[in-house]
Amino acid sequence: MNTAAGMPKISPLLLVNIRQLLTLRSAADGPRRGASLSEVGIIEDAAVLCVGGKIVSVGGTKDALRDPWLKKNRKKIVEIDCAGRVVLPGFVDSHTHPVFTHPRLVDFEKRIAGADYEEIAEAGGGIRSSIDGVRKASKNALTAKVFAVLEDLARHGATTVEAKSGYGLNLESELKSLEAIRAAAREWPGTVVPTFLGAHAVPSEYRGRSQQYVDLVCNEMMPAVAKRKLAQFVDVFCDRGAFSVGEATHIFAAAEEHGLGVRAHLGQLSETRLGPILRYRPASLDHMDHVNDADLSALAQSDTVATLVPGANYFLGLGRYPDARRFIASGVAAALATDYNPGSSPTLSMPMVMSLACTQMKMSPAEAIAAATINGAWALRLADRKGSVEAGKDADLAVFAVSDYREIPYWFGVNRCALAVMNGVLSGPRSS
Ligand code: NIG
Ligand code: FE
Repeated sequence: MNTAAGMPKISPLLLVNIRQLLTLRSAADGPRRGASLSEVGIIEDAAVLCVGGKIVSVGGTKDALRDPWLKKNRKKIVEIDCAGRVVLPGFVDSHTHPVFTHPRLVDFEKRIAGADYEEIAEAGGGIRSSIDGVRKASKNALTAKVFAVLEDLARHGATTVEAKSGYGLNLESELKSLEAIRAAAREWPGTVVPTFLGAHAVPSEYRGRSQQYVDLVCNEMMPAVAKRKLAQFVDVFCDRGAFSVGEATHIFAAAEEHGLGVRAHLGQLSETRLGPILRYRPASLDHMDHVNDADLSALAQSDTVATLVPGANYFLGLGRYPDARRFIASGVAAALATDYNPGSSPTLSMPMVMSLACTQMKMSPAEAIAAATINGAWALRLADRKGSVEAGKDADLAVFAVSDYREIPYWFGVNRCALAVMNGVLSGPRSS
């Protein structure tokens, strides 16, 4: 993980006159559930002081300016006037697939003409059609691509990004993909959480031999990934036409042996039994368009976050969305993420995802913000460092050129993010 090591020396940073600061602080431990998902912890006319990449104090502008240390060191501090602006924790985009080379325009047109995601995959499109590009690409080319994605996500306010492999699907190209993620993360001031998704699809050379491919993932790829410390999590696409629950748990058991955390794509195309999966305490189960009531209560009793990715529903033109109100009412911890990928969700905008969550899934703007920040941090097991603006946490902030936080999901298809602070490093135009 990148912790801004090797970055230029970070000047202390003071953000003042913030019209609304959304702290997302909470007295309770654990991800936000039920009513607590709406608590965004607003401070008006606020200030935030960041030193050495950490937040050191949060409060009112007047109090901050009276601080003796600040008075003494004012000249060394970069001051940003956020008058009329909203500041919140940088978004934690806990689900992205940035290592691919080409957009999938043929699939896009086929879908517009009426084909669905599974039909396209069966006809040779879908995930498998992105493999060739990754296998042929150099590590440097993939690194440049991943870095450009990280920059674009940050322009929309994301400061922590989970990044999956999953379009290489052989030992060499999965390692190359994860190495590209690592190399790009080293150049980027934000924080990247790498995930090994060797079980994204069965590549065509293993067609009809899925168990053998799972063995390759567990016995060859995973040990190499773990040995090189290239991933923190192992992900599996567990669904109809992808990997079975038995295969997913086999992969999870291997991940456990290697000390890697687990997460899964689940319930996107069909309802999948959660019991065997939850035994491995996944950090997050993502998509979750299909889930039964009993599994939902089991999920609510667990620490596993349900990460909803409505960008995929939108782009696939499904006309239906994950039932966020049902998740929230059941006490499940829900997060939001872009699921940035070439097949189902080519968006780099967390605010667009939040807009979909509000208009299509009936989440309130406050709930969408908590789901995109603190619950995203829980989904990556980083809530001790990320997801809220509190002294001691990493200095990850997003500054929006709006005067009310509800405008963040309200304006859609435009980018109102003015500035991001990542581990104390400023990024984006200084517009104060
Ligand atoms: O999250 N469902 C599996 N994986 C991706 C899609 C990847 C692709 O189509 O390239 C998803 O939607
Ligand atoms: Fe995905």
